[in-house]
Amino acid sequence: MTSETAARSGPRYLTTSDLEALGLTIGRIADVIAEAFRHKAAGHVVSPPMTFFYRDKGGWFNSMVCSIPPLGFAGCKFQAGDSTNPARGLPSIQGMYILCEDAGGRMVAIIDARWLTAIRTAAVGALFARREARPGAASVGILGCGVQGRLQLQAFKEVVPTIRRCKAYDTDTGHGSRYLEEMSGRYGVEIEIVDTPEAAVRGSDIVMSSGPIAKARSCAIVPELLAPGSLYISLDRDCYVSDAAVSAMDLVFSDDREALFHAKEHEASFTSVSRVDADLGEIASGNAVTRRSADEKIAVFVNGLGIEDLAAAVEVLRRAEEKDAGLHLPPQYG
Ligand SMILES: NC(=O)c1ccc[n+]([C@@H]2O[C@H](COP(=O)([O-])OP(=O)(O)OC[C@H]3O[C@@H](n4cnc5c(N)ncnc54)[C@H](O)[C@@H]3O)[C@@H](O)[C@H]2O)c1
Repeated sequence: MTSETAARSGPRYLTTSDLEALGLTIGRIADVIAEAFRHKAAGHVVSPPMTFFYRDKGGWFNSMVCSIPPLGFAGCKFQAGDSTNPARGLPSIQGMYILCEDAGGRMVAIIDARWLTAIRTAAVGALFARREARPGAASVGILGCGVQGRLQLQAFKEVVPTIRRCKAYDTDTGHGSRYLEEMSGRYGVEIEIVDTPEAAVRGSDIVMSSGPIAKARSCAIVPELLAPGSLYISLDRDCYVSDAAVSAMDLVFSDDREALFHAKEHEASFTSVSRVDADLGEIASGNAVTRRSADEKIAVFVNGLGIEDLAAAVEVLRRAEEKDAGLHLPPQYG
């Protein structure tokens, strides 16, 4: 291919099954995300706030754009969330990711956003669990036995090998049963499905919530449930946790402080969060406070950011080019 032909060629289209066949690991994606945050800390990332709004009939839309010139790429994700979708046989989150070259803006890939979101969120969970779980952490409480309920447990076990037990809760008992069937023994972790969120949280060393992001918060996680030394990782903003539990935390982290407070101001989210002690930009550049004792309670609010999608998408493209994976779409312009 001449450079002129390459410059005019169409994007590569990558579906979930193409992406699964690439063999990318959560650990590899965690590494590229950490690298992207180092570029951010050095001031080399353009990362405007996400656009997020609730839909009239429940659920939400959002879009996230980002450019990382040192990596040579920019990208945009548009997605919709609707927790009633699974009952209709649809994923609760769906969308597409458009990856472009930074120089010139040529579109080089269109990637299934659900897969991308799933793996980059698991990778962010792994980055925090590796650093902030208390030494010897053995038990995990999972709220929401869906995509993230599965991937976060895998991610935690990869970075905290002392994990032995997991108590998992889902409002849908069928989802709980499938989780038990699929996850039992898979990572050498004993799985128990429990009847209440409280039973999953009480006494667990690592707690992860991936329930719905909704205007009405359930606040089931109250201070008394969280064990000394526990690490709480929230993927559902502050929907599952009470104000008092957030106030009782010794440390509060997020993937991005500015993004969290932007969402607090503009989207009426994270109303319980009044401070963020460190974010991934500071952590990746070695400039952040970390767990100071085995007894501290720590909360992590994962916003989910364009920088994480873009770092993962660039790695996807690199691997897809190596394997010549996906479908080559025709050029857009003649
Ligand atoms: N912050 C981020 O970066 C990020 C990334 C991915 C997903 N998420 C959020 O995480 C949540 C789950 O995503 P997913 O991809 O795993 O979805 P999913 O549909 O695969 O799984 C969600 C599961 O939660 C269960 N559930 C619903 N309400 C519940 C409740 N109150 N308590 C316990 N379980 C409940 C559902 O039955 C389902 O099994 C969504 O809110 C999503 O928006 C956030």
